[in-house]
Amino acid sequence: MAKKKRVLVLTGGGDCPGLNAVIRAIVKRAAQTDDWEVIGSMQSFDGVLNEPTEIVVLDEKKVDGIHFRGGTILGTTTKGGPFAWPVKNKDGSWGSADRSEELLRKLQFLGVEAVINIGGDGSQKISQRLFELGLNVIGVPKTIDNDLSSTDYTFGFQTAVQIATESVDKLATTAASHSRVMIMEVMGREAGWIALHAAIAGGADVCVIPEIPYEIAKVIAHLRKRYQEGRGYAIVVVAEGAMPKGGFVYAHEATEIGNANKRLGGVAFQFEQSLKEAGMSFDSRVTVLGHLQRGGVPIAYDRVLASQFGVKAFELVLDKKFGEMVAYRHPNVISVPFLEAIEKYNYISKDSDLIRTARGLDISLGD
Ligand code: F6P
Repeated sequence: MAKKKRVLVLTGGGDCPGLNAVIRAIVKRAAQTDDWEVIGSMQSFDGVLNEPTEIVVLDEKKVDGIHFRGGTILGTTTKGGPFAWPVKNKDGSWGSADRSEELLRKLQFLGVEAVINIGGDGSQKISQRLFELGLNVIGVPKTIDNDLSSTDYTFGFQTAVQIATESVDKLATTAASHSRVMIMEVMGREAGWIALHAAIAGGADVCVIPEIPYEIAKVIAHLRKRYQEGRGYAIVVVAEGAMPKGGFVYAHEATEIGNANKRLGGVAFQFEQSLKEAGMSFDSRVTVLGHLQRGGVPIAYDRVLASQFGVKAFELVLDKKFGEMVAYRHPNVISVPFLEAIEKYNYISKDSDLIRTARGLDISLGD
C-alpha cells in the first residue's frame, strides 16, 4: 500500500465549544480521499516539541461521536509556543527560546505535509510566522469572544451567548423575588459581543461593554427609573473588559509561566462597589459566569459552523491554499490570508444595528 500523506491537526489557546466538531470534520473529509491520513499533536505544538513526542492518529473511529463534546480531545495550551518556549534561566527566572527551526525539522521527520492550526488570534499569528518559514499551514479561527475581524462569527460564541442568556433568565427569577439588582459578568476580553447579545436576549436593563465606557451616575439613574416604573428588580450585564469613562480595564498581571496575557475577570465586584459609593441603595448581588461559558456541549449552530470550518480547512489543504485561514462570510465559508485575518480585531461599532436595538429596548449602556 502506498504511503499516505500526513496532515497534522492541533488546537491552541483557550478551549471553546466546537473544537471537537472541527477535528471530526477534518478527519471525515480526509477519509474520503485515498491518500491522506490525519494525526494530532497534543497540547498545541507541544506534542511535536516534547520528548517523547505526543502525537495521536486521528481516524474515524477516534473521532466518532465527539462533535457534541466540549473542550478538545487534543488538549490545548495558552503558554509558550514554538517561538517563545518557556525556559528556566540559571538564576531561576523564566525566559523563552525560539524552537521554530526544531519544530520544522521534527515535522519533516514525522512526514507532515500540512498543518491545520485551530486557534484564536495568538495561534494564527504563530501560523503566519511558520508559514513565512516555509510550513504549509491552514488556520481555523476559534474564540467565544467573536473578536476576529475577518469572519462574521467564530464557533463557540453562540454557545457562550446561550449559556449567558440562560443565566440571565435564572437570575431574573431570583432578582424578582428579592427586588434586587443582579449584576452578571461575562467574558469577551476587549469585545462586548457576548455581553450585548445576552443582554438583548435576556431582557437586561443595563449592559456595559468595553466599546462604550460607562458613567456610573447614568447607570444608577436608569436603575432608579426601572424601579420607579414598577419593575422592582434589575439585571445588569457587565462585560469583563468594561471600563468607566476616563478609567481603565480591570485586569490582573500575567502570572502563569509562558502566558503573557493579562487576566480579566472580577470587574463586576468593582462595578457593584462603584454603584454603592455613588449612592445606589438597592440590594445587589454579583455573579461572575467565568469558564462556565466555555464548558459543556456546543449548541447546534456552533456544531454546524465548526463542521463547515473543518471540511473547508481540509479542502484548502487539498487545494494547497496554504497561508490562509477559513472564515465565515454569510452564507459562505471562504478563506483569507493570515495577514488579513490577524490585522485587526472585531469590536462592536457604536452605530451598529445591535447597539441601536439595545437602545430601542431601553437597555442602558451607561453613556
Ligand atoms: O479568549 C477567550 C477567553 O475565554 C476570554 O473571554 C477570557 O478573558 C479568557 O479567555 C480566559 O482565559 P483563561 O482560560 O486563560 O483564564
